[in-house]
Amino acid sequence: MTGPLKVALLGCGTVGSAVLRVLQGQADELGARIGRPVEVAGVAVRRPAHHPDVPAHLLTTDAHALVTRDDVDLVVEVIGGIEPARSLMLAAFEAGKSVVSANKALLADDGVALHAAAAKAGVDLHYEAAVAGAIPILRPLRESLVGDQLSRIVGIVNGTTNYILSRMAETGAGFGEALAEATELGYAEADPTADVDGFDAAAKAAILASLAFHTPVSAADVHREGISTVTATDVARAAEIGCTVKLLAICERVPGEDGDSVAVRVHPAMIPTSHPLASVGGAFNAVFVEAEAAGQLMFYGQGAGGEPTASAVLGDLVAVARNRMTGAPGPGVTGYANLAVRPMAETPTRYHVSLDVADKPGVLAAVAQEFATHDVSISTVRQTGRGDAATLVIVTHSAPDAALSATISALREMPAVRGVTSVLRVEGLS
Ligand code: HSE
Repeated sequence: MTGPLKVALLGCGTVGSAVLRVLQGQADELGARIGRPVEVAGVAVRRPAHHPDVPAHLLTTDAHALVTRDDVDLVVEVIGGIEPARSLMLAAFEAGKSVVSANKALLADDGVALHAAAAKAGVDLHYEAAVAGAIPILRPLRESLVGDQLSRIVGIVNGTTNYILSRMAETGAGFGEALAEATELGYAEADPTADVDGFDAAAKAAILASLAFHTPVSAADVHREGISTVTATDVARAAEIGCTVKLLAICERVPGEDGDSVAVRVHPAMIPTSHPLASVGGAFNAVFVEAEAAGQLMFYGQGAGGEPTASAVLGDLVAVARNRMTGAPGPGVTGYANLAVRPMAETPTRYHVSLDVADKPGVLAAVAQEFATHDVSISTVRQTGRGDAATLVIVTHSAPDAALSATISALREMPAVRGVTSVLRVEGLS
């Protein structure tokens, strides 16, 4: 092979323009690391007039023609969304080109078919930037940790929600106020649904679980709850027991009598302030991995933004370019374990519950009986009195999530319970 490796860039938004800047500004360095010069063949955008900084001869609105051009070797897809990204990726594979993508929604939706198409074509599909921005986590799962048995991944993989929850903890603000501040400062999008309702984190959880457990997991398999129902009371109650509230993406291998399964969920939860994830503040991301031989590992860094995300894209680009040089794709993704996905109702969790109750004989016994009726064991109970009223704070042991939520429904119906003021799952408490 002679001449430079040519890269087609699909999309030139925040991430694409940062990728282009580095590709053009550090072409010599990147070429030296690859072992062959690298250059941009073209940049596909919807509205060329919106990109005055991109040399006009590189711009095109015909992305399909660009990815299938004979002189293009590698494709970087940073358009996002399902279509046309999926069709363009498939066209790239069919034309024998490796793809680097930052597209979590597409990979979480259709990762199995895309990997199959890449494998059939004998090319690479890498997407480090799709999960936790700059943080190297997918390659560690695909390569460094592939000899180990992973039991659990717990991630803070959405910076917007982590910023909001961090501000709620720092200021005592409610969700609405903290969201307004995040929007004002540019940490939340004008339409924050994907972040706040956990869709973004669920897509990332699906990708993490698929790689960690060698099992196809799609976004539809992930139990998802967002943070809009987290109240200032929840955050205050967490602080009272030495915890903080985080939106967690939890991927775990759950042993069972009829074989192991995987449980993948995204929801707010209290974690002890001593847990390494508790100190991940603001818009930062972190992924905590538990593996049989390696033990506990934590990966921390910037989960969003043009430059940090471009770092991950360019790392993948160098990797797939090197493979192109050797003439063989790198290690693919395996789904051989094909473990069943355990429904949330059957997934073991722990709850922290705060109740306003009448302070009279028999109330605590009646409340405890509701837990017992649903076969939920109580770990701790704390009561504070206020005249004829009291607050009961209960932390359970682990039980199937359905049993815990049925207990809460029953408590809401009890005459002695004046209000269920806070319900959150807890993770990592001993
Ligand atoms: N919107 C995401 C976040 C970044 O807030 O972390 C891109 O995945």
